[in-house]
Amino acid sequence: MDKLIIEGGHPLRGQISISGAKNASLVLMPAALLANGVSVFRNTPELNDVYTMIKIMKHLGAEVNFSDHVISIDTSVLTSMEAPYELVKKMRASFYVLGPLLAKYGYAKVSLPGGCAWGPRPINLHLEGLKKLGAEIELDAGYIIARSRKLVGAKINFDKSSVGATGNVLMAAVLAKGTTVINNAAMEPEITNLTHFLNKMGARISGIETPILTIEGVDELKPAEIETIPDRIEAGTLMIAAAMTRGSVTFTNIRDNHLIAVLARLEDAGAKVLNQNGLVMVSLDNSDIIPSDVTTSIFPGFPTDMQAQWIAYMSTAFGTSTITDTIYLDRFAHVPEINRLGADITVKENSAIVRGVPKLNGAKVMSTDLRASASLVLAGLIAEGTTEVLRVYHLDRGYEKLEEKLNSLGARIQRVAGSEY
Ligand code: UD1
Repeated sequence: MDKLIIEGGHPLRGQISISGAKNASLVLMPAALLANGVSVFRNTPELNDVYTMIKIMKHLGAEVNFSDHVISIDTSVLTSMEAPYELVKKMRASFYVLGPLLAKYGYAKVSLPGGCAWGPRPINLHLEGLKKLGAEIELDAGYIIARSRKLVGAKINFDKSSVGATGNVLMAAVLAKGTTVINNAAMEPEITNLTHFLNKMGARISGIETPILTIEGVDELKPAEIETIPDRIEAGTLMIAAAMTRGSVTFTNIRDNHLIAVLARLEDAGAKVLNQNGLVMVSLDNSDIIPSDVTTSIFPGFPTDMQAQWIAYMSTAFGTSTITDTIYLDRFAHVPEINRLGADITVKENSAIVRGVPKLNGAKVMSTDLRASASLVLAGLIAEGTTEVLRVYHLDRGYEKLEEKLNSLGARIQRVAGSEY
């Protein structure tokens, strides 16, 4: 396990290109299973969750090539319909193979994802949706086994908007007989990216970018090619880094319409946002950070995946702010770690109350999950002295070369390899 050693106090300046979206890649790659042949995904980020999904694809028998951010998946011959515990426990998104395998082959065996550092993460909506399409589902020795001769279109009303359940059910419904309507479908850009890919494969999905998706099932899909959207969470994280360090960074390969809530909150908090010709520039001079409350919600609201980073940002604001997570109520493991750097944050129910302090001081801190790790790196960038972020394997799951990108903008971060971290 590696650790990062961060020397705080260096403003970030320059230009940086945003990588492809992790969460889009993780739902796009399994969609390749719906056709026989080679599908191609451009702008795929090189990060560990993508490598885990590659392992799953290879376990199923697919041939995968990944070079220079282009991944090709040949699904002509599959040899297994099973996603084993050893891989699914590493990454919950492995569960995405359930819908496509079931739809195309009538059978799938996928390990039930285990617990999560942020509290319960049920999969009931995935299973209820697939059952509505006619799947028979049983739990056997920790595995979900789904079977169906031919899925049949149905009306599915999700109680909650779920990215994962929408993706899984969508990938099953495209090959179902007849029409499926998904009400309260997730509208996250990663799902939109998936719908475009599925339609390129020959699916007939309408209502894209709305909460009502209508899917006319087709008999067969063909392989296709698509560009993965830029990672809005990586972009938001680096934007906060720019503002927090009182720097000025221009972002390329970015979609501002995926970041409306984050950009608005950054402006509320005193940052300057310039948005021109496909480029976004974020800067903050030496004036105070204005406390700015945030409540996470589904897209286009403020993403839960930016909550930890926002708390880090507000830790040195001039006053008190409240950050409430309505998606994952227990997702606050980063708070005690940021407090180790001198922040003054308390958690009450699903809100963090952040009383801004004049400065943070370097210390050793521990990553607990992906976005928590990012928040600790952000805090380390402004902490006086040296901050050591331990267990950065969480960070490597979801950010492509984060410290290299930050260093190219003027940060001073060193990675130290070693098993004891
Ligand atoms: C995805 C993202 C994750 C992000 C989350 C919310 C991927 C790989 N991961 O996770 O980074 O934080 O969206 O934007 O894309 N729920 C149920 N039953 C279910 C499924 C979900 O009750 O069957 C609840 C969850 O507990 C949560 C809410 O629905 O409260 C949203 O979760 P969901 O959108 O499904 O998150 P994921 O797809 O797991």
